[in-house]
Amino acid sequence: MNTADFDLLSGLIRERSGLVLTPDKLYLLESRLTPVARKHGIEGLTELVAALRTRTDETVLLDVVEAMTTNESFFFRDSHMFDTFRDEVLPVLIENRQSTKRLRIWCAAASSGQEPYSIAMILKEMSAKLADWKIEILGTDISLEILERAKSGIYTQFEVQRGVPTNFLLTYFERAEEQWKIIDPILSMVQYRPFNLLDNPSVLGKFDVVFCRNVLIYFDEPTKSRILDDVSRMLAPDGVLLLGGAESVLGLCKAFETSVGQRGIYRLSGGQAAAPDQHPPAKPAGTPLTRPATPPAPPAPAAAPTVTPATKPATTPAAAPAAAPAAKPAVAPPAPGAAGQGATQGATAAPERSPLGGAGLRTTAG
Ligand SMILES: C[S@@+](CC[C@H](N)C(=O)[O-])C[C@H]1O[C@@H](n2cnc3c(N)ncnc32)[C@H](O)[C@@H]1O
Repeated sequence: MNTADFDLLSGLIRERSGLVLTPDKLYLLESRLTPVARKHGIEGLTELVAALRTRTDETVLLDVVEAMTTNESFFFRDSHMFDTFRDEVLPVLIENRQSTKRLRIWCAAASSGQEPYSIAMILKEMSAKLADWKIEILGTDISLEILERAKSGIYTQFEVQRGVPTNFLLTYFERAEEQWKIIDPILSMVQYRPFNLLDNPSVLGKFDVVFCRNVLIYFDEPTKSRILDDVSRMLAPDGVLLLGGAESVLGLCKAFETSVGQRGIYRLSGGQAAAPDQHPPAKPAGTPLTRPATPPAPPAPAAAPTVTPATKPATTPAAAPAAAPAAKPAVAPPAPGAAGQGATQGATAAPERSPLGGAGLRTTAG
């Protein structure tokens, strides 16, 4: 691929998604976009770029952007964050929301659903305290394809092995032939809709908690700052933002301050969001990467958790690991602090120590 073609492609991808591609990631463009060309009956990458130049078919660009997202995720990723969320963040919010009994949680880069379902399982474990609450968990992502996967709630043995405590596996999943399916009461706690983080999120409403994890690392600094400012405006004054292990607000957004002893968890400085933003008038959520035939998703209804307690023993040994699922080839994660400098999306975090039977996520299922 020549430089002009690379520049056009990386420019379009960045403009549409914020993802930064530098020339050392040329191999990624080639491996991921060849199938896109094939899908559209286009001979090769040169011809694909030519098609993008004339932009007669918008779906080609949508597929290109989608192909360049990497959707690496796993259940209870950075389990200490989920422990803190359950033990320190939620109790305060529950206390503060006694009069409204409402909680809105946004997973801003939900990928294949592991993160929102991890949250749902934690909340389900707290059903006794949340019996008549309205809890809304909204999962959004730029990739329509990955959102369809998330909605299915079906995971391979490898995927559940990577983070799901055994008692949660037995309680909140059921067998689906060779795979595992999230049970309906958990599935129905999460709503999904497409949303591009470059767009004005005000259409989504206010949230008490925002998980925006392992996506900012792939953007340049001005983009990160803008998104963080946007998120600050969507948070309740006592709301909480959770970032990924390699992400921080430092030097990017003054609206947030760190919380002592709570790594990766941020609150609004003095309860104040960033100043009003410069977004163009809001489009309906889902517009930018929604294919023409797909109508915008209706507003997500709030789902109240039911009170079924988890009853399965926590001591069942973990099932044997199976082969990794076929996926887009992952790329090495960007070094901390190197975001926007050649980072492509696709952090392959070293498999975290699973909380299965270990310290990590302490479960209350008994
Ligand atoms: C590495 S995954 C992170 C998933 C999950 N948050 C986690 O930490 O495990 C990053 C996700 O961000 C999504 N993404 C990338 N660019 C985006 C954008 N501009 N707007 C919304 N989502 C985006 C990708 O499609 C991908 O599913």
